[in-house]
Amino acid sequence: MRIVVTGGAGFIGGAVVRALLEESHDVVVLDSLRPDVHRDGGDAARARLGAQGVRIVEGDVRDVTLVRQHVHGADAVVHLAAKVGLGVDLDDMDDYVSCNAVGTAMVLRACHDAGVTRLVQASSMVVYGEGAYECEEHGPVAPPPRDEQRLAAGLFEPDCPHCGADLVPHLVAEDAVMDPRNTYAATKVTQEQLAAVWARETGASATSLRLHNVYGPGMPRSTPYAGVAAIFWSASTSGQPPQVFEDGGQRRDFVHVDDIASAFVAAVQSEGASGAAGEHTAYNVGSGVVHTVGDLATELALLAGGPSPVVTGRYRLGDVRHITASSDRARRELGWTATVPFTQGLSGLSFS
Ligand code: UD1
Repeated sequence: MRIVVTGGAGFIGGAVVRALLEESHDVVVLDSLRPDVHRDGGDAARARLGAQGVRIVEGDVRDVTLVRQHVHGADAVVHLAAKVGLGVDLDDMDDYVSCNAVGTAMVLRACHDAGVTRLVQASSMVVYGEGAYECEEHGPVAPPPRDEQRLAAGLFEPDCPHCGADLVPHLVAEDAVMDPRNTYAATKVTQEQLAAVWARETGASATSLRLHNVYGPGMPRSTPYAGVAAIFWSASTSGQPPQVFEDGGQRRDFVHVDDIASAFVAAVQSEGASGAAGEHTAYNVGSGVVHTVGDLATELALLAGGPSPVVTGRYRLGDVRHITASSDRARRELGWTATVPFTQGLSGLSFS
């Protein structure tokens, strides 16, 4: 298949491109090589893609004319170009909306104009907000957004909105209500909704992969937009203790970038199974194994031979406490499962 990968010069994009090439697809990358992500001006990404024989079109997905020109004749578009991370403060809000929501609208318009009928895009488990919780007395409950006073008092666990009792966290399935808790999350919900509208109105098929916490070789180095695995690894390899927020008990699903790449390949290739004509389908993509942020810090400090983590009690208001989801739908419908074990995956970390 001829496949255009937006954001194909990035961390996840690089792994997806490699996996598509291994399946003998013809790949073109469209990437803006944002200077806050590609701090070398994009030289390393250009060299890597060049060595793989992949053409890179340097441009922004918000340039609809450019996107239209390059998606013309493609069998599928894999849309990864986005501004990622939690964001620094509300000054980032319009840039997130512009890159992610407007950017996706432009990609969808361009696909429609060029007759492309298959889109697979990166969404995130952050669309759910807090994960699934159960109260012994009230059953499944949805805790409200976190209260700053409780966080400041060191009360990190959400409690039952009806009786205040402790809750048990569970895995979330794709039919859970979306409840984004920060700007980035809101733009990922919008991306999914726009893709659903596009599919319905044009008869195309759209798939959104709700990625968990991705790590692996080529991770972006510690920046305000880096995920926790990159931040901890950067600290540990520089002889600093990882700074664990809250009490370190936050539950996440850390999934290796090679597993993410194989999920994109499965979604692109699964004509009919994922995203029938006119439909949008979302899939959770995680390892299925729950770890705490504290576990991750301990594991990385050990691997790097760095000092033990420090549990700081600090918190970020936009963070959710626990979010882990079931990837059963991806297994059933795409035939995909994660294969890289946590400790093995962490032992191969490196930075881009
Ligand atoms: C992360 C990504 C998000 C992506 C999602 C799913 C970032 C910033 N977030 O969300 O873009 O969509 O995975 O792939 O890339 N923490 C610490 N110490 C630190 C930094 C973070 O303890 O120095 C804690 C946080 O409080 C949080 C957890 O680690 O509880 C995870 O943080 P992070 O990786 O930043 O964000 P996620 O919300 O999991």
